[in-house]
Amino acid sequence: MNILGDISTATFLSEYWQKKPLLIRNALPDFESPVEPDDIAGLSLDEDVESRILIEDPAKQSWQVKHGPFSEDSFSQLPKENWTLLVQAVDQWIPECADLLEQFSFIPSWRRDDLMVSFAPKGGSVGPHFDLYDVFLVQGMGQRRWQLGPKCNTTSKTLPDLPVSILQDMQVEHEWTLNPGDMLYIPPSYAHHGVAIDDCMTFSIGFRAPSEADVLQGFTDHLAAELNNDRRYSDPSPACAKDAPALIDEAAIERFRQILQKNILQDGPLREWLAQTMTEPKYEALHEPLEEALEWQDIASLFKEASMLTHNETSRWAYFKDEQRVCLFINGHAQPLAESKSCQALAQQLANQRHVNIQDINRYLSEPACQDLLLDLINANYLYFEG
Ligand code: SIN
Ligand code: CO
Repeated sequence: MNILGDISTATFLSEYWQKKPLLIRNALPDFESPVEPDDIAGLSLDEDVESRILIEDPAKQSWQVKHGPFSEDSFSQLPKENWTLLVQAVDQWIPECADLLEQFSFIPSWRRDDLMVSFAPKGGSVGPHFDLYDVFLVQGMGQRRWQLGPKCNTTSKTLPDLPVSILQDMQVEHEWTLNPGDMLYIPPSYAHHGVAIDDCMTFSIGFRAPSEADVLQGFTDHLAAELNNDRRYSDPSPACAKDAPALIDEAAIERFRQILQKNILQDGPLREWLAQTMTEPKYEALHEPLEEALEWQDIASLFKEASMLTHNETSRWAYFKDEQRVCLFINGHAQPLAESKSCQALAQQLANQRHVNIQDINRYLSEPACQDLLLDLINANYLYFEG
């Protein structure tokens, strides 16, 4: 099934992705939400879950933000209308929500951030705003009226003295009412404003896009951590201009440029840092390895009984190829891999899908290196048996 409706993936990527908004009616035909409003409210009571409630007073143009964890009381004190509960990373808690993300595999999975779910009664909204990343907004329940505006930037005028960033005058360029199963794609920085028409749930599939400042800082920190302190600036034959000892001359500037270039342009560390960073879990503390490590003989029979191996919802997987060798990273760590062809193929197959059909990996199960890899991943609790 194509979540992009009549639009091919190629057309979506060349004409819309990061370029212009797109409404897809019935992207998920007969969509049945994997969660109820009560599940979302229930999650927001948990201290490990990131949640917020935004309350708008339209008469006063004022906004209040409360941060979770909430209590039953927090909900009974809410007004009847004009508020929104937002819960982040619902995919980490509800496997069916993690499955929904698989529908977006036409974009590299390491670009995904999380699935945020919002619930709002009539009038609930987070105000006209823009986000710095791509987002797909799937209508999960009820109806929401979306208004879309132009591309904004950090100089776009926002209302003063508010705890949230709300655009002052959003020019409306499109207006659409979304029904369950409809989906809206919004590229980074486009103004949008969605108001609940009735009790409504919206699923936001957001993507990760590090700022250039984060890339520079992250990569140079990574490089610096590996460098020996003995490697220092040196100037075996400095030319000190007569009467100008304070001058930083062109030759000195060039020596510093060389230090930067020879380090920053290294290919290996860039690949490693990228795979490490892009697989860093959203919440490190949520992931735990199995309490007691298993042996191959403990799990061998499960490969016959179960139907699938599934990624733990808290795990993030990515790999790159280095002279055809696969370098697999999970949750920010490099996974040791044997050089055998089958082990390298198995690693890619495991990384590329959230659910791996056991029949599809049967041919690898007799090879000791593949057994070691599967055992490692199951003991680390990156993979679990299903069915
Ligand atoms: C919402 O779900 O109410 C807001 C989502 C968004 O604007 O990104
Ligand atoms: Co938004």
